[in-house]
Amino acid sequence: MKFFIDTADIHQIKEINQWFPLDGVTTNPTLVAQVEQEHHHLIRSISEVVKGPVSAEVLSTSSEEMLKEARELAGLHSQVVVKLPLTQQGLITTRILSKENIPTNLTLCFSALQALAAARAGATFVSIFVGRLDDIGIDGMEIVSQVIHIFSHYQVDTKVLVASVRHVSHLLAAAELGADMVTIPPALFSQMIQHPLTDKGLTQFLKSAGRL
Ligand code: G3P
Repeated sequence: MKFFIDTADIHQIKEINQWFPLDGVTTNPTLVAQVEQEHHHLIRSISEVVKGPVSAEVLSTSSEEMLKEARELAGLHSQVVVKLPLTQQGLITTRILSKENIPTNLTLCFSALQALAAARAGATFVSIFVGRLDDIGIDGMEIVSQVIHIFSHYQVDTKVLVASVRHVSHLLAAAELGADMVTIPPALFSQMIQHPLTDKGLTQFLKSAGRL
């Protein structure tokens, strides 16, 4: 399973990339609004730090405008993946971009049928928002399981990206299901490697060695 980081904070990206090599980055308008950097400059800078796909989201809602924005974003760096909403206009845009070999990430996916539509349009990635599904009482990981199961029946190239990850149990479940990748908020990287027995064991070893 590949690990993407879900943030627009380049400092956090650099810090985590030192000890956990990142496979890619996802951003969204909310995350970009949290940092004070011009969008295009930010996407270029992130692409120089992480050698992998960097998702940059369009803000337009019509396919004509999305297409214009998408081509601009794709022109920023070879690693840019254009993030588009899973709407009819987003799907029209995805079909065109797919023919132009511009990679896409269909975002705000909440059902297996939406994921199938994204795959049908030629999306490179489909982002399933597990946390937001959990928030409304639907098991987000169950939707991921359905998508992986359905995609396995056919020659589907679209990658299953588990997004809106809120806790480490989402990570474990995604890995067990064989999701292609997860995108996770910075704090979860350190939570992933925390274990009280690791801390306790280290304290004991340091005491034994007279270092404590
Ligand atoms: O980047 C998309 C997704 O991961 C957002 O997560 O926590 O806002 O639902 P969240």
